[in-house]
Amino acid sequence: MSKLSIGIDLGTTYSCVGILKSGTKVEIIANDQGNRTTPSYVSFADNERLVGEASKNSAAMNPKNTIFDAKRMIGRDYSDDEIQRDMKLWPFKVLNVKNKPVVEVDYMGEKKQFRPEEISAMVLGRLKQTAEDYLGEKVTDAVVTVPAYFNDSQRNATKDAGTIAGLNVQRIINEPTAASLAYGLQQPKSEEQHVLIFDLGGGTFDVSLLSIDSGVFEVKATAGDTHLGGEDFDNKVMDFLVKEFQKKEKLDIRGSDRALRRLRTACERAKCALSSSHKATIDIDSLYEGVDFKYELTRARFEDLCDELFKKCLAPVERVLLDSKMAKGQINEVVLVGGSTRIPKVQQMIKDFFNGKEPSKSVNPDEAVAYGAAVQAAILSGVKSEATQDLLLIDVTPLSLGIETAGEMMTKIIDRNSPIPCQKNKTFSTYQDNQPAVTIQVYEGERAKTKDCHLLGRFDLTGIPPAPRGTPQIVVSFDLNANGILAVSAVDKASGNAEKITITNDQARLSEAEIERMLKDAEKFADEDAKAAEKVKAKNELEAYAYQLKGAVSDEKLADKIDAADKETILEATKEALAWVESHQQADTTDYQNKKSELEAKCSPIMAKLYGGAGGAGGMPDMGGMGGMGGMGGMPGMPPGFDPSQMDPSMFANMAGAMGGMPGMGGMGGMPGMGGAAPPKQGGGAGPKIEEVD
Ligand SMILES: Nc1ncnc2c1ncn2[C@@H]1O[C@H](COP(=O)(O)OP(=O)(O)OP(=O)(O)O)[C@@H](O)[C@H]1O
Ligand SMILES: [Mg+2]
Repeated sequence: MSKLSIGIDLGTTYSCVGILKSGTKVEIIANDQGNRTTPSYVSFADNERLVGEASKNSAAMNPKNTIFDAKRMIGRDYSDDEIQRDMKLWPFKVLNVKNKPVVEVDYMGEKKQFRPEEISAMVLGRLKQTAEDYLGEKVTDAVVTVPAYFNDSQRNATKDAGTIAGLNVQRIINEPTAASLAYGLQQPKSEEQHVLIFDLGGGTFDVSLLSIDSGVFEVKATAGDTHLGGEDFDNKVMDFLVKEFQKKEKLDIRGSDRALRRLRTACERAKCALSSSHKATIDIDSLYEGVDFKYELTRARFEDLCDELFKKCLAPVERVLLDSKMAKGQINEVVLVGGSTRIPKVQQMIKDFFNGKEPSKSVNPDEAVAYGAAVQAAILSGVKSEATQDLLLIDVTPLSLGIETAGEMMTKIIDRNSPIPCQKNKTFSTYQDNQPAVTIQVYEGERAKTKDCHLLGRFDLTGIPPAPRGTPQIVVSFDLNANGILAVSAVDKASGNAEKITITNDQARLSEAEIERMLKDAEKFADEDAKAAEKVKAKNELEAYAYQLKGAVSDEKLADKIDAADKETILEATKEALAWVESHQQADTTDYQNKKSELEAKCSPIMAKLYGGAGGAGGMPDMGGMGGMGGMGGMPGMPPGFDPSQMDPSMFANMAGAMGGMPGMGGMGGMPGMGGAAPPKQGGGAGPKIEEVD
């Protein structure tokens, strides 16, 4: 098993994978389409599952079964306001299963349900495979990034997604922190620098302020919005254009998922075009009920539509400055990350805010996060590299963590922006005389009342010996690990009774059994994908072989070499085979293979004769193996007397390599440790009160 560890930026709209093997250079790995980022899209169809490019490209054909935005659902409750709002825009179906969002699709003729973790796992699995294809070996270790402002349940759910994909997630790190690594590594070592990372992606917005000093990266403060990004800008433009179409044509396209999807794609494209030109034309043929739609969107109009959203980007910048007690003038560099920072208005706003200071463009906004994740992965797996040897990363927790005390008060134990990992204790006591138990309710958030914070979990500590109120000493410890994932324990000093949980928000977190089932499912899907790919390959091989034969016997240069009857036999046989393929689009792999053998049996002897028998009875022994090479335009034109044995064997090796097909999907790796994720105990309503003593 490889010790290599990859870095993955699991984005709302696009994901990216990188690796640092040695030296100083991180390689960002291109997918099978040659692109360095892969759409975070998964779609389900009658006979196949598509992930990434293929899925996004076919979204308009299959809108209801094309799932995106899993990152906007992951780790959230169904009742979450943002899920409720987003659902109105999603063409796919989201169900409420025990207050968890679950997508429902038609797949292979059946209704199937998936948790957002499973969808993200499919995207992660694709990136894993991309890396494996590139490296030529299996990879199981990975560092995965999340928005800095992701809470505990969103982090846990992301880690679960990795597990389902067969990855051992060594560390969850914050996206802006990862980006700062990418930035810092590209700077010559100098004095201490204060760097502000402004990361505006497709779905989320993060701001972090770091100090970088001789290899030590210290996050001073972080803030952001887990629901602000490029998709929100697309939505604004969509809303506007839906109304325009309605005004102009008196037609409402909102009933058609296909029309909406086509408009969405056009809006995103226009938005990107407006980053480099002042106007962009949206031009969609037959958008709805046969009516075309054409609209010229100006940059000014776009900026006006998104003005409110753009303005929201400055508050978190102010907040991190405030939290880290730093003035604008003390920021040495502002680094832009995320595709949406290409928007000129956004760049202008930042520049104005920093009194005319130009933001740094030294990192690639699409790749910086994966780049940094790859650096962190290399550090964790002990890769010896000049780039990482003196590097130390100190991250912070984005939200305060505490427990509820009498009066529904949020009593903080770990303050926001504390460096992680960290461990803190606080002593509490009982609220009533002879109280036998206390309920520890763990919250995250900045508000004074727990009703305004987010409940992470609860457990009871029982068996407290009778004593007057305020006497027992109950020490509550919070242990926040390097992933930003929390474990809480409580011990009654007198009795020594102790209880602990790793916070697993019971509303959102998967149980171990569920993860196991999903892991099995993921393996099954990988199997099905491999079978589907094998089938396509067998079909292509049959077709390509038939066309090659047809091409070869029709070649003018061979006209006097082949006798008419033989030629007729071959043409007849290929015609029949091609017609068979036409009418058997969904046959089994073996059917295609058998059909090809049949064709070979008929045609090989004739071809062998034709090519001078140099290869002996086998004639064209390599023909069969080459069947898959649809693009082998040169083959049919083989000169008369062509001697296959004279061909450079490496040519075949190269061809075989190019044919690729599906790389081995087996061995999804074992179940990495689940971090002791026991389901939290449910106190059943508000349990006995606990009181703060220090
Ligand atoms: N030239 C451009 N102008 C404007 N927006 C762009 C441009 N290029 C890409 N984008 C937008 O950037 C977003 C993708 O950015 P990125 O890949 O950084 O996001 P992500 O990683 O998928 O999301 P997140 O980090 O929020 O989870 C998309 O909304 C895309 O439309
Ligand atoms: Mg991103």
